[in-house]
Amino acid sequence: MGRNKINGETKIPQHIAIIMDGNGRWAKKRLMPRSFGHKKGMERMIGLMEHAFDLGVPYVTVYALSTENLTRPEEELNGLYDLIRNHFEGYMDRFCEKGVRLRIIGETHRLPADVQEIIARVEEKTKGCVGKGVNVALCYGSRAEIVRAVNLAVEQGKTVTEADVSSLLYTAGQPDPDLMIRTGKEIRLSNFLLWQSAYAELYFSDKMFPDFSDKDLEKAIVWFSSRTRRFGKTDEQVECLH
Ligand code: FPP
Repeated sequence: MGRNKINGETKIPQHIAIIMDGNGRWAKKRLMPRSFGHKKGMERMIGLMEHAFDLGVPYVTVYALSTENLTRPEEELNGLYDLIRNHFEGYMDRFCEKGVRLRIIGETHRLPADVQEIIARVEEKTKGCVGKGVNVALCYGSRAEIVRAVNLAVEQGKTVTEADVSSLLYTAGQPDPDLMIRTGKEIRLSNFLLWQSAYAELYFSDKMFPDFSDKDLEKAIVWFSSRTRRFGKTDEQVECLH
């Protein structure tokens, strides 16, 4: 069995977070508009999610639009919203059939009204699904998410524990991401799931997102499986736990 192949001994992450970077550069290299890169990125996003579920990964969170991205040119933003308008419900029906719950995380009230309606519909359709989930981060910023959680706690007059904060985040009730993947050659987290990824293994790929294949995902999972997760303990303490 090849060392880069998933086999029965591979530890499968319980939650993979993906920063889908590089659509623009991918398109530019092909002398195509950025919107073409985003369309290819969307197709790849769906393909990767399906492959992750087939491999037994129950939760996937993708970074589709940050709050900072809202300052991008109107034309590019409309292209992204059009992807949601034209494809989202169809793609998401496929997840619904597989029993996957869909959540859009972020400041969705800042999106155009018709996009908000589509989001509400797909979320409603899958709200009964438990155990498997896709989170699509739109108008998302991790610091804003934490501030929102703190304000909710203040409203409840609480002195909070870590568990309380986790329960007030968009990802409440889900396992924290144990594998965070970023494509597009940059080595940073860009305000994505900062609280939730405290112990995630970080995997950076030089590939632009539309080129990040199912095989690349498997390679990342095999790498994840080879990591020893110590959660602050010593090697010896971890060995005792096994
Ligand atoms: C960052 O890379 C990527 C984005 C801002 C958009 C990611 C969106 C998708 C993958 C499509 C899915 C979309 C929706 C709306 C669900 P970049 O494109 O800025 O790349 P660059 O750094 O090469 O310019």
